[in-house]
Amino acid sequence: MKDLWSISTAEHTDGKETIMRRGNVYQIANGYMGYRGTLDEFTSEQLVGITLAGIFDRVGPAWREPVNAPNGGFTSVSLGGAELSALGNKVTRHRQTLRFGNALFERQTSFAFKGTTLTVRSARFLSAETPNLGVIRFSITCSRAATVTVRTGIDGNIWDLNGPHLLGLAATRRDSVLFVEGRTNESSKRVAVAETADIDFGKVTYESRGNRSLRVVHLRAEAGTTYTFHKYFAVFTDNDAVRGSVAEAAIETVLQARSLGYEDCLARHGARWQEKWNRSDVTIEGDDEAQLALRYSILQLLMVAPVKGSANSIPARALSGQVYKGAIFWDTEMFMFPFFIHTYPEKAVELMRYRIKTLDGARRKAKTEGRGYRGAFYAWESQETGDDACTYYNIGDPSTGRALRTYFRDKQVHISGDVAIAMWDYFRLTGDDSLLLEGGAEVILECARFYYSYAYYKDEKRRYEILDVIGPDEYHERVNNNAFTSMVAKETFTIAIATVNHLRRRHPKELRTLLKKLRIEGELPAFRDAARRLFIPGADAKTGIIEQFDGYLGLRESSVKELKARMIHPDEYLGAGQGLAVPTKIIKQADVVMMLNLFRTRFSAEIKRANWEYYEPRTEHGSSLSACAYAMVAAEFGNLDFAYKYFLKTAKIDLEAKYKVYVGSVFMGGSHPAANGGAWMTAVLGFGGVHADEKRVAINPRLCRKWRRLQFHLAYKGDDFRMNITKNSVTVASSRANTRVHAVLVAGKPVKCSPGRPVTVRYRQAR
Ligand code: BGC
Repeated sequence: MKDLWSISTAEHTDGKETIMRRGNVYQIANGYMGYRGTLDEFTSEQLVGITLAGIFDRVGPAWREPVNAPNGGFTSVSLGGAELSALGNKVTRHRQTLRFGNALFERQTSFAFKGTTLTVRSARFLSAETPNLGVIRFSITCSRAATVTVRTGIDGNIWDLNGPHLLGLAATRRDSVLFVEGRTNESSKRVAVAETADIDFGKVTYESRGNRSLRVVHLRAEAGTTYTFHKYFAVFTDNDAVRGSVAEAAIETVLQARSLGYEDCLARHGARWQEKWNRSDVTIEGDDEAQLALRYSILQLLMVAPVKGSANSIPARALSGQVYKGAIFWDTEMFMFPFFIHTYPEKAVELMRYRIKTLDGARRKAKTEGRGYRGAFYAWESQETGDDACTYYNIGDPSTGRALRTYFRDKQVHISGDVAIAMWDYFRLTGDDSLLLEGGAEVILECARFYYSYAYYKDEKRRYEILDVIGPDEYHERVNNNAFTSMVAKETFTIAIATVNHLRRRHPKELRTLLKKLRIEGELPAFRDAARRLFIPGADAKTGIIEQFDGYLGLRESSVKELKARMIHPDEYLGAGQGLAVPTKIIKQADVVMMLNLFRTRFSAEIKRANWEYYEPRTEHGSSLSACAYAMVAAEFGNLDFAYKYFLKTAKIDLEAKYKVYVGSVFMGGSHPAANGGAWMTAVLGFGGVHADEKRVAINPRLCRKWRRLQFHLAYKGDDFRMNITKNSVTVASSRANTRVHAVLVAGKPVKCSPGRPVTVRYRQAR
């Protein structure tokens, strides 16, 4: 039977792009850091990166980006004086594997040199128990007696897009612990890496060259004997709340790990992973391809979920490197958050805490952007402070080398509503209002305040309008009455009022304090008014089409093919000032369809179908966020074959790594956690047909042709459910530990689910 819990490859070819892609596909992460899927002997040239979550730095006028730590995982081997590399010509066999069960990276490579075959095996993981820790087992076996030198330690010569970020990198050693520390260039934060190893063979000396601090093992290897050692490295920065210095914390962590030993560290790490999979795995019977791709997508999300208490979020390229400035976009709330809220609310809460933490940044942005607004205008590209990392000239034109003015930062105002919606969903779906009290209510009210100051009241029409924006489709900038944006803004007003009502009922004292702090009470009637009278473009009575924005339907018809044929440069950007898509109806990504998906209970299947059929042929799917929105809406109105095609495209994006590497002249290679979340949403919310709101969970399955059975867990209001769906039955198993009886709506039929008593409902799948 096919192994659906790992991927592996024998490929070890050179070439910057293949190395970059393998580095993404085989990466591991633990929320604190990501380690690219590069090999032990690789260095900055091969894009080795240990990207840290939540710590950023800027060098000169270049983009601020996340900091990469010195590589404590470095090991290289020489045979008879010749250094071995999987990229060299001595390789006879190579295989590298990523195991999903415990996020373990393994490699095995055999090299032949002067009649001797030397085989290197290594396994590494980033501890799910101790987030600062990485652990590696490394072994060598020679076919004949040979002279072998192993260099292992910390390589401070690291890959940076816009570095170097660490100044004064100094390598030292304390007994058997190697240590490298530097300070970030901008805010002088310390980044410290310690490494130790347990080596019981050969003769060990130490070598410190430039940024490298290495242990050199001189070995006369016997034929057929396997020499194994274990390596422990720890990264700490000034962002970590540690007693004493970060250096001491790093040293102590590796010493503790070493005394525990590799097997124990691995077992503890594995136990944590078991818990994660118990909550989040989805099984699909009848379709191995989909199963593997979906599980891989879930693995990616679980690996990059923020560490408890960190109030970090997940960047658009996760922890796969510094691409996209390590910035957090709407991707997190709209595409990743649903996975976490439905399977892992403790992680969803961190994502939301991040928005609470960066509220002041959003306030600063509101004040300084455009004509100056009130409330919270969240950063389009958000880093640690919430100030916007997105530049006004964000894309380079590859033909002219000139920077193009884009309005992502100042006009993509839907971001604030995306945040408010997720914040409210956290409360609705967990029933836990502590986050609202922690700052969530403040975020919501400030987002509503922002929209009120952004909106125009048209006296003659007696309505509010949201003008001069960019919707999700970035090829049409500065448009009026974008349906998606207006809908999100209107929802924000409704949520703000609901928040106040909830607090008034349950936490009147806290509400009074908050209203006073924000001096916002007098504005609430206006929010109520806007929640009623904000204009949303409606569906045309005859065609059912919702116009994406004012004037969209009058734009020139074209096709993606036609535009591509007219491109002068293969990486040309189709939007911005002179972009080829601008005067046409060609859109970059789901926009109206995104709205139909986000507010899926408010539109009929006919409207969904009409708009899907209209917009799909006009969509480039130039963003990895697009296909899953189309997949989910297609599942809703019953085009399951199409839904499946786009599901697979989304689920395989990081596995196959066939994505665009450049947009304009901007390097974009990295992983796609929003698509990973989109794959999960399509499987569970789309095909599984799950819809949860504050009242209950409803399931209305529409399994695609190949799927015989779909099983997954669902977290809802502090309880856990296991769903088992076939083409004609749904079993809801309410976990034994659940606290109460839940009413679940299965294929339109209300059923009572008691803890420990699975309920099966037969149904007929709609065609
Ligand atoms: C998309 C945005 C997305 C960003 C980060 C862009 O190409 O148009 O919607 O937020 O990528 O993934």
